[in-house]
Order: sequence, then structure tokens, then C-alpha cells
Amino acid sequence: MQQMWLSLLSGLCLRLVLPCSAEEGLEFPNFDGKDRVLDITERNYKKALKRYDLLCLFYHEPVPANKGLQKRFQMTELVLEVIQWVYRGWGERKETVCWCEVCLEEVGSLYVFKDDRVIEFDGELSSDTLVEFLLDVLEDPVEMINSAMELRAFERMEEDIRLIGYFKGEDSYYKAFQEASERFQPYIKFFATFDKSVAKHLSLKMNEVNFYEPFMEEPAILPGRPLSEMDIVEFVNQHRRATLRKLRAENMFETWEDDMDGIHIVAFAEEEDPDGYEFLEILKDVARDNTNNPELSIVWIDPDDFPLLTTYWEKTFKLDLFRPQIGVVNVTDADSVWLDMSNDEDLPTPEELEDWIEDVLSGRVNTEDDDESADDREHPDSYVTEDSSESHDPDEEEDSDD
Ligand SMILES: *[C@@H]1O[C@H](CO)[C@@H](O)[C@H](O)[C@H]1NC(C)=O
Repeated sequence: MQQMWLSLLSGLCLRLVLPCSAEEGLEFPNFDGKDRVLDITERNYKKALKRYDLLCLFYHEPVPANKGLQKRFQMTELVLEVIQWVYRGWGERKETVCWCEVCLEEVGSLYVFKDDRVIEFDGELSSDTLVEFLLDVLEDPVEMINSAMELRAFERMEEDIRLIGYFKGEDSYYKAFQEASERFQPYIKFFATFDKSVAKHLSLKMNEVNFYEPFMEEPAILPGRPLSEMDIVEFVNQHRRATLRKLRAENMFETWEDDMDGIHIVAFAEEEDPDGYEFLEILKDVARDNTNNPELSIVWIDPDDFPLLTTYWEKTFKLDLFRPQIGVVNVTDADSVWLDMSNDEDLPTPEELEDWIEDVLSGRVNTEDDDESADDREHPDSYVTEDSSESHDPDEEEDSDD
């Protein structure tokens, strides 16, 4: 129930993923049809764990008798075969294998075994997302920053939670940092430098670690120097729910399950669209002003990242996603209320948005008040209804410029 509207959608993705991935994106070669999925039993799992560097396990119920479900099962298995095969070609690690079996009840129970760690995959089950996840897991958990160019790339990653530390070298307090990084790989990015000028640019002192929250201009400095593995782990666990976080295919379930007492504040904005971009800048302002409020976390969804889900969201929430939107969604029943921004010129100011958010956090704006009757739910005034989006007339907009 908890992740109802997201899981419903995964079914949709599964069905559509094959045609997409074969045509574009990662440029998959055609699948050669060989079966590389192992059936794991109590008898063979130990041997398999020893034999392969990286294993990917899908835990599933017995194959269903129902025809439709069976078909989905086969489709999913095929997706996993393709991933596995493509991945093997890229990675040159011939001993790597995915054993992938399908869980039909609960999308998301896919586990990756690396060394002595088990990492849960919490993303959308599509070939490119899973391939990317597996490649990230194979990388070193700490990325080194040695040059001005790497530094610039690091500074551009404003959507990610990042940590960066400055250390003397491999044999130093760097070890604790590295151990900590393994616990969060690949969901939280860890960087380190042994280079004095890079450290200077970032105002890092020796053995200091900085934590960058997404979309914030200034990092937080982890208290204490040097830091133990547990110091770092605890700090990250305390701060990992960002004030503004972007929904991404690679961890969408993790994000969705981390709700605020049963609700999410959700903002839809296309970064490529001028209105969307402007709205996003306002959101960032508000997030920066409220970064110390542990109650507040806004999930930003760029509809461009989820082309297969957009229509579903528009239907479920009765929204026009060609325009920026912000609202409250109840994660149990997907009931929602959206801020009225139907007036074309009027994106809210940061102050107006902050007032609205305050109303949400205090419960004055909520998804329950309009629930008395089913009729109310169809056409409540405060919703952005189809009518209001139709009133959007490009000619009118031009006229209002002068
Ligand atoms: C969410 O919806 C459920 C079911 O309608 C309701 O019981 C619950 O109180 C709602 N939660 C919030 C925070 O509004």
C-alpha cells in the first residue's frame, strides 16, 4: 500500500522497457538469446557467492499459474538477461554474473552481493537503470579529485549528496573515510583529495570532511578532526534526507518510502522549460532558507526523466505537467492537493511558497479536508483542473508583455 502509485507504475515500465532500450539510450546490442540466469537454491548459493565478484539476486515467489503474470515473469527475466549480457560485455569481468529471478509481489527486492556486502537496489526496474547501478557498485566507493577539471565536475554535481575529505594519503585517516563510503555506495557519493591546491580551493583542512547537501551553496563541515568511520556514518544518516531532493530512477523507491509522516511535498518542474526552470530556482531559494528545518523535504520530479509515468501522474493527480506544480500527496491513497498556480504570469514568490509550505507543515493545507464526499473530490476549487489549464492561451501571454 505504502508505495502504491509508484509500484503500479513499475508494472508499466517493465512492459515497455524492452522496446525502448533496444532502440536508443545505451545502445544495446541485440540480445544473443543465451540463458545466463542461474537458479539459486540452498545447495548452490555458497559456491556461486565464492565464484563471482558481483552477484545480483532477485528473490521471488514460485512462478505463478496465472497466464498474465507468467508472461510478466518471463518479460522481467528477459530484461535481466539482457542487462547481464550487455553488462558483461562492457565490464570485461567475465566471471561476473547476475542471477536474477523475479519477485512479482514486491518490486524492489533485488540485492547485489559485493565482497561481504549486500546492497539493495531501490530503483526503477529498467535495463538502463539497473546496468548503471551495477556499474556504480563496481567502481571504487571513493573517487579521487586531483585536478582542476575534476574539481569543476565535482562542483557541478549539485543534485547529489556528496562528501569530500582531504587526507595525507592512502595510509592515513583516509581509511576510515573509505570504510564509511562503502556503507553508502552507490547512493551517496564520496570524494577525496590528497592534493593541497584542491583542498585549498575547497577550504578544506587536513583530515577535514565536508558534506554537500543537494542544491545548497555551502557545505556543512563534519564536526571533529580526525573522524572515525562511525562519526561519518552517523553524520550521513542524520543528514541524508535533503531539504530538496530530486526523484531519480536509481533510487526512486528509497526516496518515496522516506516520507514525512505519511505525506510528500511533491514539485513537478521541467528544468528545460523556462517556467519550470524559474520555478526550480524559487524552490532552491526556499530550500536554502529552510535547510535547517528537519521537518521539511520537497521531492522534485522532472517529468522529462520519467516519460513513461507522466500521463499516469497527470491522471492520478489531475494535473497539467507541462506547467510547474507543487502539492501534497498522501502516500497511502495518493490523494493530493495542489497549489493553485493557474494564473499564467504568476509563479509564486519565494515568500508565497514558504507560506504555503508552512501551511502544509502545520496541517492547515492537507489532503483530508475535502474528503467529505466523492463529488467534492472531482471538482474542488483549489485543484488545478483541466479547465484552468485550457485557459492558457499563448496569444494572451504575448499581449501582456507590454
Ligand atoms: C492519508 O490517507 C489515509 C487513508 O485515506 C488516511 O487514513 C491518513 O490519515 C492520511 N494521512 C494524512 C497525513 O493525511
